[in-house]
Amino acid sequence: MNKKWWHQSTVYQIYPRSFNDHDGDGIGDIPGIIEKLDYLAFLGIDIIWLSPVYQSPNDDNGYDISDYYEIMSDFGTMEDMDRLIEEASKRDIHIMMDLVINHTSDEHPWFIESRKSKENPYRDYYVWRESSDNGPPSDITSVFSGPAWEYDDATGEYYFHLFSKKQPDLNLHNNDVRKHLYTMMKFWLDKGVSGFRMDVIDLIGKEIDDKTLTDGPMLHDYLHEMNREVLSSQPTITVGETPSATPETAKLYTGEGRNELDMVFTFQHMSLDEIEGKGKWALKPLDLLDLKKTLSKWQTELHQKGWNSLYWNNHDQPRIVSRWGNDCEYRVESAKMLATLLHMMQGTPYVYQGEEIGMTNIVLDDIRDYRDIETINYYNEKISEGVPHEVIMKSILVKGRDNARTPFQWDSSLHGGFTTGTPWLEVNENYKKINAEDALRDKDSIFHHYKKLIQLRKEHDIIVDGKYELILEDHSEIFAYTRTSGSEKLLIIANFYGGSPELALPSEYLNADTELMISNYSDSAVHPSKLNILRPYETVVYSIRYGNHQN
Ligand code: NOJ
Repeated sequence: MNKKWWHQSTVYQIYPRSFNDHDGDGIGDIPGIIEKLDYLAFLGIDIIWLSPVYQSPNDDNGYDISDYYEIMSDFGTMEDMDRLIEEASKRDIHIMMDLVINHTSDEHPWFIESRKSKENPYRDYYVWRESSDNGPPSDITSVFSGPAWEYDDATGEYYFHLFSKKQPDLNLHNNDVRKHLYTMMKFWLDKGVSGFRMDVIDLIGKEIDDKTLTDGPMLHDYLHEMNREVLSSQPTITVGETPSATPETAKLYTGEGRNELDMVFTFQHMSLDEIEGKGKWALKPLDLLDLKKTLSKWQTELHQKGWNSLYWNNHDQPRIVSRWGNDCEYRVESAKMLATLLHMMQGTPYVYQGEEIGMTNIVLDDIRDYRDIETINYYNEKISEGVPHEVIMKSILVKGRDNARTPFQWDSSLHGGFTTGTPWLEVNENYKKINAEDALRDKDSIFHHYKKLIQLRKEHDIIVDGKYELILEDHSEIFAYTRTSGSEKLLIIANFYGGSPELALPSEYLNADTELMISNYSDSAVHPSKLNILRPYETVVYSIRYGNHQN
């Protein structure tokens, strides 16, 4: 693969609503982000992925856009946005916009027109169908519960919405729609943003009548066209959100010479703790062997054939330290272990706000305290089916999206220093113990571990280019792999659980010249030959040089 400017970069995702509130209205905003740019620069990140800041009625917290050319008033003004781009650039930080083009808000002028009459010039901008047997045109269901079709009185037809009914799906098969979207993308690039994270982009080629939603026949043609029309004009960075992607299709999206996207987000590792085919709420414990197999497949198959994104967290996923780590006794150790495991892989790492200080899931038992439409709709649907509150809450506490959306914990003052007003969503009560101010002060904190990982990627090409190989494949508690480049190797070892497993490394590592690059215990063995038993969540990375000392 040719080197790209962002290959050694780390991306930081900001969910603006919950990051930092400048004006005291309880909602994070753009001036609040600007205030924290020095914090981000100190962490060492290169790119901010900004969850949507466009004008929106906020049915789905900004993923329902009513004007692509305006800033949501809760978040500030276009002048604030310009200042953010400028101030970030002063610190060598790029901005990646969230690009939501599978759907708009039902309050977008296009939809307001579209629903007026069947003859309206904007009618075909959305997906309208007649009823079938006096009911919806098909049985496709919405990701946010209930049918994906909404009947509209004005014309007596149904429109399609894969998400909420306030998020009608655009019809990307309409040439004018695509043209308008490209113009809008250029507008943002001209403003100085460096690229896009593309919301559910695997849906844009959908063929509703065939019930083909993801990976529609025109998907790659459209991405190719978008690349030609917009992205190829300057060095950009793009990542597609692709719930359906496999390593095979990821090569189509990201392969060199395909001219589509730079990388995609896989969902395969994120769905390993749900019962297959039953959706995110159907919980099952993670099997480490599955995780190893899945991540290794992506690492191996995309090596020199595409590019990986690396993530544990975002605004749709629960907090990783609560999910697959231990957010009590071993919060610090397990958060560092998970970070190390991911950041030593090949690809571009994404850090979701608060991950770098080990923020945890929140425990809210009353549905009235939740703000997320997906969670609320799911709860109501299950209640109406007669499922007991306690049973529903079991899934929500583990998987609900508000877990990741609680306000950032900056310090130990009221509301974690997030706002002087009333926060739009409750702050996790553990903010007195878990906050950025303390993390910055403590050189052994999770924050400083992330900072070091981000720095190591910039200093060692092997982290960017090295070939991945899984070792100790069948070990049920240890995740270990190597990265190899020429005569250099990295050996990454992670105890994924709270036990103390024995480690039996292949002999080639026992006599090699090694250096301990990073670890999460201050007294981790300086040489792999001394590492016979791992402590709870212990992780170590050795750098090995094969020369005269190789046995
Ligand atoms: C994926 C986004 O990440 C999620 O937050 C949103 O609800 C859906 N797409 C719909 O835009």
